[in-house]
Amino acid sequence: MNDTFLKACSGETTDYTPVWIMRQAGRYLPEYQKVRGNISFLDLCKTPELCVEVTLQPVDRFGMDAAILFSDILIPMEAMGAGLDFHEGRGPVFHETIRDRAAVDRLVIPDPHQSMGFVLDTIDLLRKILQVPLIGFAGAPFTCATYLIEGGTSKTFWETKKMMFAQPDLFHALMEKITLTTLSYLQAQAEAGAQALQIFDSWAGVLAPCDFEQFALPYVRRIVAGLQEKHLPIIYFANNGATLIELSASSGADVIGIDWRINIGDAVRRVGQKAIQGNLDPFALMLPEDRLRDRIGQLLHAAEGAHGYIFNLGHGIHQYTPPDQVKCAVDAVHELSGK
Ligand code: CP3
Repeated sequence: MNDTFLKACSGETTDYTPVWIMRQAGRYLPEYQKVRGNISFLDLCKTPELCVEVTLQPVDRFGMDAAILFSDILIPMEAMGAGLDFHEGRGPVFHETIRDRAAVDRLVIPDPHQSMGFVLDTIDLLRKILQVPLIGFAGAPFTCATYLIEGGTSKTFWETKKMMFAQPDLFHALMEKITLTTLSYLQAQAEAGAQALQIFDSWAGVLAPCDFEQFALPYVRRIVAGLQEKHLPIIYFANNGATLIELSASSGADVIGIDWRINIGDAVRRVGQKAIQGNLDPFALMLPEDRLRDRIGQLLHAAEGAHGYIFNLGHGIHQYTPPDQVKCAVDAVHELSGK
């Protein structure tokens, strides 16, 4: 069992820097495309045997130091009763938007075993075969709320911020329901065998720090606190969160994920005694091989003062990234850090 990733999460020294990549299972891999050729994305997410296959693809191909469960942050939103489709090229689309009291009241707090058993079954199957730790995950309440309120992906977050500022009680009521759903879902993932949990706050960076502190962070804190008894590392990743680093570190999470818009040395100084994950611009994977190695060498050097460092990109890998570039990056991390 390779536990390098788990050691780095808890700030222990490791023989080399562990690496995994956000969205490591996905469309940039031809073997993923092959599986997806026969099935819709949502049906794939609900078929444990195929989720297992797809989860393992990048681990086997590149020698990743952790696997991330193949699923989506919107699966629990669908389980709350929000009808969901994924449209080719358009991303997620909810059948209805959640913008008034009646819509919030209609959402249920699902029993993860009843409505998301396929995720727990996937975790169970994966743990029987994986030689690296398995990361479970969920979206942070604010990020999930934006999808429900906007009905899909947004550019301005007009409807979300309108509700937040004009109807704060309604916004908090929605956040409350998402938080309870997310906490029980992550607890169930831990019980099923997930060995670390990542909370993805993809849209936290659209908030002013004072609004993040008031409207988003308290719910992340509650989830992290509710998971303490499970004794597994929690990673909190607030995308576009360079201005939110200290607040993110106050979430209680063990590992702080960072994007590429901050120098890692700054992040190391600002997170305190916590491990750091991430930082390479996903598009830097397009550098020629020798320059990619140099760039990774610089990053590893700059991360040396961290209380645990896990190599990752600053956000999910882009779908047109050549897999050979990923191989080059993973090998560079391992070789340059001592494996
Ligand atoms: O990291 C992994 O390998 C595990 C799988 C994973 C997926 N989504 C699979 C996926 C994870 C961890 C996610 C998280 C997720 N989903 C986030 C947070 C991370 C981030 O990127 O900010 C968000 C915001 C979503 C919601 C979502 N899912 C969107 C906006 C889209 C469409 C955009 C896109 O890239 O297509 C998805 C679809 C999705 N989720 C795909 C995959 C592999 C592509 C689906 C396909 O096969 O067509």
